[in-house]
Order: sequence, then structure tokens, then C-alpha cells
Amino acid sequence: MKKVLGIAFGRKMSNTDIMVKTALMECEKAGLDVRYIRADDLKIDDCTGCISCVVGMVSGMGKGGCPIKDDMAILDEALMECDALIVASPTYVMSPTGKFKTVCDRIGPSHDISFRLEARKEGLAAGKDPDKLPDERSLKKRVGALISVGGAMTKNWLSFMLPTMYEITMSMGIDVVDMYEYYGAMAWEHVVINDEVMERMRQVGRNIADALAAESDEERTKWRGDSEGTCPVCHCDMLTVLHDGTGVECPVCGIRGELAVKDGKIQVEFSESEQKRSRLFYAGKLEHSTEIKTKATPPGGIPNKAELLAPYKDYATQWKSE
Ligand SMILES: Cc1cc2nc3c(=O)[nH]c(=O)nc-3n(C[C@H](O)[C@H](O)[C@H](O)COP(=O)(O)O)c2cc1C
Repeated sequence: MKKVLGIAFGRKMSNTDIMVKTALMECEKAGLDVRYIRADDLKIDDCTGCISCVVGMVSGMGKGGCPIKDDMAILDEALMECDALIVASPTYVMSPTGKFKTVCDRIGPSHDISFRLEARKEGLAAGKDPDKLPDERSLKKRVGALISVGGAMTKNWLSFMLPTMYEITMSMGIDVVDMYEYYGAMAWEHVVINDEVMERMRQVGRNIADALAAESDEERTKWRGDSEGTCPVCHCDMLTVLHDGTGVECPVCGIRGELAVKDGKIQVEFSESEQKRSRLFYAGKLEHSTEIKTKATPPGGIPNKAELLAPYKDYATQWKSE
């Protein structure tokens, strides 16, 4: 039986929690196995930046590993075993919560499927024990849905939500097939009485079930969101201006588009070749991981490093209140 994992950030029994549970209930009705995690119940510490996860994979042909021992292992196992992921976060200051970002950093490069697949291939070729290589389940095709929840009455107080929420699915290569933004939550005592949103959550569940039942990859990854959006890959509307003529970039996919105004409306054209190199796809991730593998400088190359850093060591010691 296919498994759906729901992850909600934010308060217990509040809007986000209930919205994810509503989508999961619909998945269960469709005969899927469901699992639920309220992220704020887990103790997950900040990434320290040691990069041992990546270093282990690129140099040792092994798993790489994280020295932090906390509840991330619970989340990790749930992510590995699921076939679909539904994630929702409240909006805190226009973005997902701090805990959401902490989880994304811990998933970050360590779960990047291009690092994992290459390390697995190289390790197997060198006759390594498969259990000492990246988890095979990381390479399984999975689908996902992203849900953003904001109290504000205007959508522009949720500005960075959906683009940022891709951080949780991006490195694992989970194909997002649905996305929903609920704003104005504070106009309702609780989402449970907002029929339109509750029905849309049931639709998220049906969309996930539909994707999991698909027989072709095209059908599986078909976009099921309400709007096509500006970027044809991630379906978000955010753009970065490149200041080189008409060039713009999708900040989620990292791909270039050309902006034009036709009949008074903004249109952005992303070429087929640019779309293919989106970092949501394997090719885009491989471009990045190859760049890191071939261009990042190994330590030990600056002979007088200690001397160069000495003046900074005791300069401006950490501020403490009087
Ligand atoms: C620290 C903080 C910052 C917030 N910032 C925003 C914001 O920028 N935009 C917005 O729409 N709502 C904002 N809200 C409101 C929450 O998104 C809203 O209350 C939401 O329903 C919380 O989700 P929950 O009910 O599942 O806990 C903020 C709430 C908190 C606690």
C-alpha cells in the first residue's frame, strides 16, 4: 500500500494542523496508508554547517552523516518510507516558520538525490556494503503538495511562502503536483468552519491519491494546482530581475526567462532547455553537485591560515548584556 506522510508546522489543533489532517483523511478514504508528524513536537536542532553529510558522500563514497543526534532520525525515516508528502506551514513574517527552515537545512544537501545517487553508484562499483551507502529509498519517485497558511487578509503578507516551501521537497526531488495558499485565516475563528478551504484540503488529498494511482510519469507529475503560475516548472509567480535586458530568473528553479509585455500583460517565456535545467529536476541538481565536487577547494591549502586569522580571534568578543 502506498504511504502518504503529512507534516504540519505551527500550533497543535490550529489551522495548519487540521488542514493537513483533512487532506490525510481523504487519502485514507482513497485506500492509502497515512502517517502524520507535527513538526513542532519533534526536537530538531539547527544545522551547524559542518558539511560532513556532503563531504562523506563526495569523498568517502559512503553515506555521509550528521553528527547531531535528535528527532531528525524520526522525520528522516518517515520521509524515506513515504510515496507522497503533504507539507503545510503557517506564515511567520511573510515566510514559513523558523522550525520549517531548520528542517529544510537538515534535509538540505544531505538528501540531495544527485549527491546520493552518484555516491551510491560509485560505492557499489567499488564493492562497498550497500548498507553503508545512501539509502536506496531516497531515489524513489515521490509526489508532494505544499500548503501555506497566513492570518493576514492580503496575500502579499504571505509573499515568500510557496517559493520558500519548495526548500523542503527540492533536494529530495519530490515532484510537487499541488499547491494552495490560505490567507485571511484570522478572519475565521478556525479553519474548521471555512467550508471552502476544508473542501480544498480534501481536494489536496484526492490530488495526491490521483497522482499515486497514475500509470505514466507524465500523468503522475501533472500539475493539479489552481493556477498555472508564471514559471511552468514550479508554478510560482516570483521573479528576479537580471538587469541584462529582458532577462528574469525564477528564484525557485534557478532558470532564466525572457519577459515581454503583450496586450498590456506581462508574459515570461522559459525556453525548453532552461526548464530542463531547473533545480527541481535531476539535471539541475547534478549541475550544482558537479560544480561543488569539482570547484570547491579542499582544506589545507593556506599555509599561513592561523597567522592570517589571528587578529580576528579575540577581536570584538561576543556581546553580553551588562
Ligand atoms: C510570529 C508570527 C508572525 C506572523 N506573521 C504573519 C505574516 O507575516 N503574514 C500572515 O499572513 N500571517 C502572519 N502571522 C499569522 C499566522 O500566520 C496565522 O495566525 C496562522 O493561522 C497560524 O497558523 P496556525 O493557526 O496553524 O498556528 C504571524 C503569526 C505569528 C505568530
